[in-house]
Amino acid sequence: MSCDVRSFYKDKNVLLTGGTGFLGKMIVEKLLRTCDVEGIYLIVRPKKGLAPEERLKSLFEEPILAKIRENKWKYYKKIHALEGNLAKKELGLSEEDKELIRNKINIVFHCGAFLNMDSKLSEAIITNVRGTLEILELIKGTQNFDAFVQISTSYSNCYEKVIKEKFYPPPVDPELLIRMSEELSPNILSSITNELIGKWPNCYVFTKAVAENLLLTKAKNLPVGLFRPAIVTSTVSEPIAGWSDNLYGPLGIVLSSYCGILRIIRANGNLKSHTVPGDMCINAILCFAWDLNNKWKTSQDTYNPPVMNFSAKNTKLLLSVRQYIDCINRSDYPPFKKAMWHQMLFLIESKFCYIILKFLLHTVPAYLIDSLLIMSARKARMKSIYVKIEKTSDILSHFLMNEWDISNESVKKMWENLDEKDRELFNFDINSIDLNLYFKNMVTGMKKFILKEDMTKAKIHKQRYKRLTLLHYTLKYSLIGLSVIPVYRTISRLVSQKKR
Ligand SMILES: NC(=O)c1ccc[n+]([C@@H]2O[C@H](COP(=O)([O-])OP(=O)(O)OC[C@H]3O[C@@H](n4cnc5c(N)ncnc54)[C@H](OP(=O)(O)O)[C@@H]3O)[C@@H](O)[C@H]2O)c1
Repeated sequence: MSCDVRSFYKDKNVLLTGGTGFLGKMIVEKLLRTCDVEGIYLIVRPKKGLAPEERLKSLFEEPILAKIRENKWKYYKKIHALEGNLAKKELGLSEEDKELIRNKINIVFHCGAFLNMDSKLSEAIITNVRGTLEILELIKGTQNFDAFVQISTSYSNCYEKVIKEKFYPPPVDPELLIRMSEELSPNILSSITNELIGKWPNCYVFTKAVAENLLLTKAKNLPVGLFRPAIVTSTVSEPIAGWSDNLYGPLGIVLSSYCGILRIIRANGNLKSHTVPGDMCINAILCFAWDLNNKWKTSQDTYNPPVMNFSAKNTKLLLSVRQYIDCINRSDYPPFKKAMWHQMLFLIESKFCYIILKFLLHTVPAYLIDSLLIMSARKARMKSIYVKIEKTSDILSHFLMNEWDISNESVKKMWENLDEKDRELFNFDINSIDLNLYFKNMVTGMKKFILKEDMTKAKIHKQRYKRLTLLHYTLKYSLIGLSVIPVYRTISRLVSQKKR
């Protein structure tokens, strides 16, 4: 049986930006484990006092690379760190490394980005727009080049309610925007941010939308393509079930609510949200590089860079926010040791009710706990935890109060074009998921990989959680009782007055 996708990667050299991030780690792992590549080159910046080489070493310590660690002598020599920074001119690469890229690299996954939705515009432009321009300039001189995949997001043009698999006109000329970010002070740029980003809800999606268009203007005649995942969540099975280390999106909400901290969010529970599993998203990305290379080879002169949306449309994962939360709130899933209270999460649409309930369910308990902490000579921390959590959930609420129709026709076509063996190796058929198992693994994975809790003590954690549940219901019914008594007294007084 032939394996076209695997053969496509055999003995190739792959360059990756964002290899230390959530998606990037999964790409590195899958390429090493399945694709028999010759080498993987990661553009890595120094961070927190660690040089790129040291960061690479700690990458191998991550649970997602456990299978790779078992065969470390086979794989370690294949992976290399190139010191660079997407926010620097010419990516901050040395002349030697630029030369190496031009001579050696066959396939590029441009995955690195500045994802902070609450960021200043200047930072987002420099990393997401200029960083993309710089990498496209770099690959122009590359010999034996097979594919460049730019990872964007399904929400880059989220002012539209129907997201098609096509390029949308840029809100502003990318190069003009870069010049503005270089020439205007960050303060001036901040003061005109709202006018500039207009109908986009934040700087992250705005800069992603601008960067997409660079593929058309700077690399139209090259084998390039645009891949737009929806919201990426835990893995289904590869290389381990339930892995994630990303708390930006729904997983952040799930985790903080499962810990009994987040109790209310502004969301319309009936609207559908597009989440996709991490491993399936990576499989689709790897197949997309192969697919676009095929298209480019057959029609180089008339080649139009393809756009692929990887969304949950027409799959069993297209769940409403309410259904998603119900799937996760199963009592047979393992509770967290770090849970501070019994889990409950209200979805509220009205801004007014949200503000009131947020005060009652977050602010009041936070002040109570902080007062107790201060009285026992410990540091108050709940208020600051709530400030952070509420900031994130307020940013996300735009995506929980709206619904999008994200076309994914080309994903289906690509699936149909894969042979049996490739389908097995690179499964991205979301309908093949067992939803119950997926959500159970998601919660277990959060406990294991994000909170790093001792899984052998799950029974003790369950008993502790039962006590929290008992406390929760005792408090709840006592409060209900306390509020019912005055009402009962008033009614009986009125009735007895009437009788008299
Ligand atoms: N996660 C999702 O749900 C999702 C959904 C749709 C699209 N996407 C897209 O998928 C891509 C990867 O996202 P992710 O979730 O993996 O994000 P992530 O975990 O935050 O990773 C971002 C990566 O970009 C790197 N990076 C950021 N600024 C850099 C700079 N100045 N120089 C060099 N590297 C830099 C980071 O490196 P450091 O380790 O040095 O910080 C990290 O490796 C992004 O393009 C994003 O837009 C993600």
